[in-house]
Amino acid sequence: MTAFPENFLWGTATAAYQVEGAWNEDGRGPSIWDTFSHTPGLVANGDTGDVACDHYHRLEEDLDLLAGLGVGAYRFSISWPRVQPGGRGPLNQPGVDFYSRLVDGLLARDIAPVATLYHWDLPQELEDAGGWPERDTALRFAEYARLMGESLGDRVRAWITLNEPWCSAYLGYASGVHAPARTDHAAALAAVHHLNLGHGLAVQALRSTAARGAQMSVTLNLHHVRGVSEADAAVVRKADALANRAFLGPMLESAYPRDLIEATAAVTDWSFVRDGDEAAACQPLDVLGVNYYNPTLVRQWDGGSAKETADGHQDGAASPWIACEDVEFVQQPGPYTEMGWNIDETGLTELLLRLHRDYPGLPTMITENGAAFPDAVDADGRVHDERRVDYLHRHLSAVAEAIEGGADVRGYFVWSLMDNFEWAHGYAKRFGVVRVDRDTMERTWKDSAYWYRDVVAANALPTGSPASTEAEPVR
Ligand code: FCB
Repeated sequence: MTAFPENFLWGTATAAYQVEGAWNEDGRGPSIWDTFSHTPGLVANGDTGDVACDHYHRLEEDLDLLAGLGVGAYRFSISWPRVQPGGRGPLNQPGVDFYSRLVDGLLARDIAPVATLYHWDLPQELEDAGGWPERDTALRFAEYARLMGESLGDRVRAWITLNEPWCSAYLGYASGVHAPARTDHAAALAAVHHLNLGHGLAVQALRSTAARGAQMSVTLNLHHVRGVSEADAAVVRKADALANRAFLGPMLESAYPRDLIEATAAVTDWSFVRDGDEAAACQPLDVLGVNYYNPTLVRQWDGGSAKETADGHQDGAASPWIACEDVEFVQQPGPYTEMGWNIDETGLTELLLRLHRDYPGLPTMITENGAAFPDAVDADGRVHDERRVDYLHRHLSAVAEAIEGGADVRGYFVWSLMDNFEWAHGYAKRFGVVRVDRDTMERTWKDSAYWYRDVVAANALPTGSPASTEAEPVR
């Protein structure tokens, strides 16, 4: 048995656009993901989030799922265009009421609400006005944060400003594989900055409301970058600057790293960073949210041989890896999940220990970790997803090892509570511990859900990892 610290927070995570549906109900405005998913050819199978998991209409049932799992916390995101349709102006009260019901329903079940303000669904009107490359979007975000703090801050005691700004900036504005599907490297770096600024202003805004004293956080998908050999140290450092320190620098150290500015000098002069912005981005945080799926392996490209882009990204003008022409992204050994991501939990331990070393006073929390596999319902009506159980087991062991090594890790959230809209992959990739039938919307516990329930109850990992086969608890 590997035990976790007392008060370790166990949870599951979802995001608004991926689960809610009800995309044009009760006054919700359009977001960039509605536009993206409604554009033919951008999402696999032409899938959209119009219905998603119909969570908007199945709130009580989904709250009961969480209660059955016994989790202490639930990480959800607030859809900005549901509560403030155009991204500015007054609140849309039916939208706020939905989150109010969600929060009250969680509290009634003794589950702590962990609210993410921005999980990628920018109101389309703000994108029409320029989106994250525009400074005004950061100001609008802070205003939205203030309104949410006023509406929910008395009950939501844990806030996450942004989810994975790396994806918002680089996948949204550089590679264009995410909404709003732009491919402009200079715009992507301006987006990086305005996300950092928006984060800091949002924390300040929340602290001016009933959310004062609540736990403040941001969730980053930090890349654990390794080099093929020691000769690759310079490209490891460059990839680390773009992926990690572009956010950690301003948010935690009040400055962009010099090597980032230098590496990207041919793309932008960073004149969008005004005096005082870095200080504004750097607000005291209570915990750092970390999303981890797999590590990254790089090598100095020799300029001649065919260049590997192992994570599937396009090289050149539409690369999310700005100014990384000399960096080769190398295929890592398997096994792989259905996303093609290699399974290597050692990166998580190393990443957590690095954060502990670099930011000793700042606790961390795993706000997402999980895996997609092609699960099927078996003849016995069950989903025997032993590979997911194995993935979760490995990564929780890795977390325990980091704690053992001194890292102050406060909690762990499985991605995801249920199968949902996996962005450009649509519904083809299933990450849930609970299965969602696409035709009937019926929820079915996979073996991983039973297993996770047992881990949560024991606050410990079992020795060996056979999935529990006990029946679903009576609620
Ligand atoms: C993360 C996202 C989350 C989900 C997982 C698989 O990048 O934050 O919404 O799509 O990946």
